[in-house]
Amino acid sequence: MTEDLRFRRPIEADHRFLVDRVDHWWGGRQLHQLLPRLWLQHFTGTSWIVEDGEGTTIGFLVGFISPDHPDQAYIHMVATDPNHRGEGLGRALYERFFEDVRNRGVREVHAITWPGNRVSVGFHRAMGFIPDEGPETQNLYGTPAYPDYDAEGDDRVAFSRQL
Ligand SMILES: CC(C)(COP(=O)(O)OP(=O)(O)OC[C@H]1O[C@@H](n2cnc3c(N)ncnc32)[C@H](O)[C@@H]1OP(=O)(O)O)[C@@H](O)C(=O)NCCC(=O)NCCS
Repeated sequence: MTEDLRFRRPIEADHRFLVDRVDHWWGGRQLHQLLPRLWLQHFTGTSWIVEDGEGTTIGFLVGFISPDHPDQAYIHMVATDPNHRGEGLGRALYERFFEDVRNRGVREVHAITWPGNRVSVGFHRAMGFIPDEGPETQNLYGTPAYPDYDAEGDDRVAFSRQL
């Protein structure tokens, strides 16, 4: 990781830049509907952006502490610029989130992903997350996952990690 990175909280004005990049940063999948403006209005206090030395955003994370379970947090989306993958940015964003929420009483972090997203599965495992392996899971693309978790055909790995 280079030295001139800047980590900061997102603001609402970051929304357009981020939403315009989601499909490309996710390899062409049409996922920008997963990042409506509300994430940059109501969850900035537990979210992060990383900029390069010229002030260009090269990664982001949006997450929150669960209102229902205040000892749990949830990471909704994370991505880094494809030109800056494998440089430790994803880890740095996650570690900042862990520190934030740990200081506010969180003991467990959750994240879900599509089991066919091998990069995301590998990243989450590297970050210490473990997939649910309960009786309702099946081995999908090599990972225990819930079929039809979010909707018909929307299979998901349910990851969690203790802090
Ligand atoms: C997943 C993603 C955020 C990882 O970001 P990154 O900046 O490349 O990650 P890092 O360089 O910080 O890597 C962190 C760890 O994940 C591991 N990792 C990263 N990419 C991986 C891959 N393709 N396969 C396996 N492990 C991987 C690294 O080995 C590293 O482990 P280490 O620190 O123990 O060496 C990035 O690939 C991305 O934006 N993908 C598209 C969006 C996406 O799928 N997001 C996740 C679902 S919301």
